[in-house]
Amino acid sequence: MRKFATISLLTIGLSVAAQTHVLDVNTKKLGAPVQPTMYGIFFEDINYAADGGLYAEMVKNRSFEFPQSLMGWRAYGNFEVRSDGPFERNPHYVRLGYAGHNDKFTGLENEGFFGIATKKDATYRFSLWARCPEGGKSTLEVSFVDNDTMGEDQRFARVNINIEGKEWKKYTAEIKSPRTEAKGALRIFLTGKKVTTDVEHISLFPVDTWKGRENGMRKDLAQALYDMRPGVFRFPGGCIVEGVNLESRYQWKNSVGPVENRPLNENRWHYTFGHRFYPDYFQSYGLGFFEFFQLCEDFGSEALPVISCGLSCQFQNPDPTKPGVHVALDSLDSYIQDALDLIEFANGPVDSQWGKVRAEMGHPEPFNLKYLGVGNEQWDYDEQHGGFGPVFTARLKKFSDAIRAKYPNIKLIGTTGPNSEGWDFDLLQPRMKELKVDLYDEHYYRNENWFLSHGLRYDSYDRKGPRVFAGEYACHGANNHKWNHYYTSLLEAAHMTGIERNADIVHMATYAPLFAHVEGWQWRPDAIWFDNLRMFKSVSYYVQQLYAVNKGTNVLPLTMQGKPVAGQEGQDGLFASSVFDKATGEVIIKVVNTSDKAQPLSIQLQGMKGTRTAQIITLTHDGDDDENTLDNPEKIIPIEGSCQVDAGKKSSLLLDDIPAKTFRIYKVKK
Ligand code: AHR
Repeated sequence: MRKFATISLLTIGLSVAAQTHVLDVNTKKLGAPVQPTMYGIFFEDINYAADGGLYAEMVKNRSFEFPQSLMGWRAYGNFEVRSDGPFERNPHYVRLGYAGHNDKFTGLENEGFFGIATKKDATYRFSLWARCPEGGKSTLEVSFVDNDTMGEDQRFARVNINIEGKEWKKYTAEIKSPRTEAKGALRIFLTGKKVTTDVEHISLFPVDTWKGRENGMRKDLAQALYDMRPGVFRFPGGCIVEGVNLESRYQWKNSVGPVENRPLNENRWHYTFGHRFYPDYFQSYGLGFFEFFQLCEDFGSEALPVISCGLSCQFQNPDPTKPGVHVALDSLDSYIQDALDLIEFANGPVDSQWGKVRAEMGHPEPFNLKYLGVGNEQWDYDEQHGGFGPVFTARLKKFSDAIRAKYPNIKLIGTTGPNSEGWDFDLLQPRMKELKVDLYDEHYYRNENWFLSHGLRYDSYDRKGPRVFAGEYACHGANNHKWNHYYTSLLEAAHMTGIERNADIVHMATYAPLFAHVEGWQWRPDAIWFDNLRMFKSVSYYVQQLYAVNKGTNVLPLTMQGKPVAGQEGQDGLFASSVFDKATGEVIIKVVNTSDKAQPLSIQLQGMKGTRTAQIITLTHDGDDDENTLDNPEKIIPIEGSCQVDAGKKSSLLLDDIPAKTFRIYKVKK
């Protein structure tokens, strides 16, 4: 964890006033284990999270497979789009020929994702597949251009690539940028003797990617994920798993193997919201299942892939009997086979069909997949709501029977649909128990009132049923205040005390969505924002990170004012939880003051005696609407401090005035 700025806490050590809240932490009694998977990340290609985001490819429509082949490109001179290229599933390419006069240019220019952004002194790896179809040799001049500049500086970095022969070959070149340019473009001119040249899969990556991988991730964004210490990593969505129809569902098999031959898929987020319309948003699958598993390994996270259950988006296809939108129950075999093959891809021996694919991609060792999600936001229908019956659970049962028969150790994740309460949730929750899924995935994007009044949500859950995965949640401000701001993040911190106190039943929780490009978002709030050169971590990110790095190993019983837990609405707006960390020997107490007044706390550490120094981490700010930004990325960050723990009469005693609207963590070595 980063070292935060240190403040001296002048408020510590105030005498106990009448309205003091007494928190009793029983440090002798270890409660339920906090699962290593407890706090994780959920990745979906929404808000340009993958193409144009984490996936470091800078060229948009690199294989000319967008429905309009030259979308994202400007083409000049004598060019032709052809469709008999070397890659079966991406057949389009461009033929560049002599433009009719030596002074005329033939070429292509790519606009990138909201521009091609280069950094001063950074090196970029350009590559393409090319040939001279009529034989001979040609030269391509590849340059970074700034179209706002006229003169020699317009092409401010250049390299020549010589193409030779009639066979398709891959060519690469490195280009160093002499300056930082946020809104540049990538230009290719046919030059030299202007011999006819075919070009395909034109790609540009920074050399300095996460772990230096060629088909790599943006280093700053991957580092931010790593810094969250995610225990579990759910991918690849979200709604994109389902598709708006079966054809556009995420098909993991299309996302593995050589990148040149991974077929394009549409991205539903390009048109889901007419007011946030991005007609050039597609999924290249360059960040595919192999890369997801690799990231899980890098981060030390359990992989949790989610696959289509044969139902395309139920929001968009309300009539499940309509032909073509959902797979009939008796035609699910290929979908179930996809699930079984995925487990083989992740875990199978190198001589199995899919284990071999993994090995050929450079990972002969298994990925040790343990979890599999079937379906995203799916549901059944009762008589009052369509009367179509157990549309989801009937399919889930078929998957479950087949997966359990072949892979009994894989933990299956079901879902309670898009709502955290209501008729659909009430219908599905008991069915998850009947089907004996290991966990079910709950989603709640709810407003401030909901977050302030669900402090006891998990206290009443059936302990004999499946465990809970809070797979998508975030506090969305009411009255359309659905953007990142401090107060909603604070309420997420308050809610998470309830998740933590109930670690026996809640085994995973992942905030959503994870990423958003400032110029290309469809959904907010989000954890991490970026443009092409910079990024910032939202306050919600820091809340998640603080929980993850301070999750401990076991829940510790805690009472507030003698009551077993903070109430549904907290007590005076105070929410709390506590854990013990066996590895460090620390007692960790999290307190969130959601009220607008400072509140005196008396934290009694039962089972501990004598004085100590406690570490304190504080996340606070004055303005409810404040947030970090690209220009001021560290406006609100956790601040570290320390305070004295006194020798109380019976136990060690920590006195504090927790400021208004503050999340504070106290760490005391036992
Ligand atoms: O996180 C954005 C969307 O919210 C997800 O795709 C979907 O699962 C939920 O409705």
